[in-house]
Amino acid sequence: MPLWVADMDFEVGDFISDAILKRTQNKTYGYEIIPSDINENISFWLEKRQDYKVDTGHILLTSGLLTTMNICVELFSKPHDNIIIQTPIYPPFYDAIQKNHRHILENKLRFDGSKYVINFEELEEQMKDASMMILCSPHNPVGRVWIKEELERIAALSIKYNVIIISDEVHFDIVYSNSKHICLSSLGAEIAHNVITLAAPSKTFNIAGLCTSFAIIQNDRMKRKLENYLKKHHMRDMNAFAIVATQAAYKDGEQWVDSLVDYLESNRDFIVEFFKKNMPKVKVIIPEATYLIWLDFRKYKLPMPLQEFLVNEAKLGLNSGESFGKGYEKYARLNFALPLSQLEKALNQLKDALNKYYPRVIKNNEEWKKILSEEQFKITRRQGTERAFSGLYWDTKEDGNYHCICCDSKLFSSNDKFDSGTGWPSYTKAIDIKSIDIKLDKSHNMTRQETLCAVCDAHLGHLFADTKSSTGQRYCINSAALKLK
Ligand SMILES: Cc1ncc(COP(=O)(O)O)c(C=O)c1O
Repeated sequence: MPLWVADMDFEVGDFISDAILKRTQNKTYGYEIIPSDINENISFWLEKRQDYKVDTGHILLTSGLLTTMNICVELFSKPHDNIIIQTPIYPPFYDAIQKNHRHILENKLRFDGSKYVINFEELEEQMKDASMMILCSPHNPVGRVWIKEELERIAALSIKYNVIIISDEVHFDIVYSNSKHICLSSLGAEIAHNVITLAAPSKTFNIAGLCTSFAIIQNDRMKRKLENYLKKHHMRDMNAFAIVATQAAYKDGEQWVDSLVDYLESNRDFIVEFFKKNMPKVKVIIPEATYLIWLDFRKYKLPMPLQEFLVNEAKLGLNSGESFGKGYEKYARLNFALPLSQLEKALNQLKDALNKYYPRVIKNNEEWKKILSEEQFKITRRQGTERAFSGLYWDTKEDGNYHCICCDSKLFSSNDKFDSGTGWPSYTKAIDIKSIDIKLDKSHNMTRQETLCAVCDAHLGHLFADTKSSTGQRYCINSAALKLK
């Protein structure tokens, strides 16, 4: 099932297909005169949706955002110049720099535990040596909507070091609750002087195949230069159907986009919940914008590369993380612009494929209560601790394997049990490191490493450093979480 290229599995709105149909009925498809009001339609949309009042004279129509980006790199930087991008990033950004013989400065985004953030110290150092930055706003693939303070800091650095910014804002219409996109060049005349904004109706209205986009350039000199280039290369024409689709989108598309964004937001929330419940080891980077979600599979030690697993085992086509940057081999980007029923099917395929290597047992509390004693439930499902020297196994020396009391997974061997003197069964190691999950536990004013059963999430105990243990580690486990077999 394809969940990759960034377009949607939704039909366009009737206002677009009707406009195209009407145009097809005028059966001459010769050279087209671009209607004079198309820039007004774009400007109307920008003001309505982005609170950005753009002079129609600052808009240049183009036939594809990446085409325009590449031209701007050629026109406004020199060969071997340094150009900054913020990685992981949409792969064609790398090409726009390298294939034009410029040099990449990678301002790697940092994950702060819940979202990716900009390393501004590094960015400032890089700005000193760069002539250009290509900003992705909102960001593909990490889904950030840069807030005003972040954009202002970027703007201040661009002004201070005279760095031109190509701001790719193609995803600016697909923004979820609690976030608000701000166009970089709307922040003031001084920054607008340095910025070329690139945008399009393509992502929003699912018309990427019509190749329609535009640039906003307030700097007259840069606008003239781009315009002259487009004229010289006979790139000022526009496809007849792109014209009518763009006008229809920006004149009549508001309600359609509102319901699209609502639908996508509930798909996004569905994904987050689905992973939390069924594949909690996948770190889901919740997007504030775009219909693309960045997934971190690093906790899985699969016997094959992630992409191979996704394609051959889960039968899913996601974008491989490594295409977005070095070091992201265990990440993937999933496109969730598809009907919920299909999305659910895809996630179930992924869950089933992961289950083959990492089986999971999921039950609700009522179900657990039916098979556990009160004490076992309190300890395994409520993070309880039995009193030292009180449990069934603290002093046991019998041979056998210790299984999870909840799901029967084999966890520890009697060969690895040692007398720690703590009053809890203690082990130097687990039978299989994959069968135990470790989580940071800051409860009771302590910082400890909690150990959980990787199959059913039962709380087992904690992992401590211990010089008495042959491995230097002690798995300190509650007897009530175990069954010796
Ligand atoms: C950030 C970004 N820029 C540009 C594009 C492509 O734009 P176009 O098809 O107009 O060249 C995409 C498509 O996925 C994108 O995500």
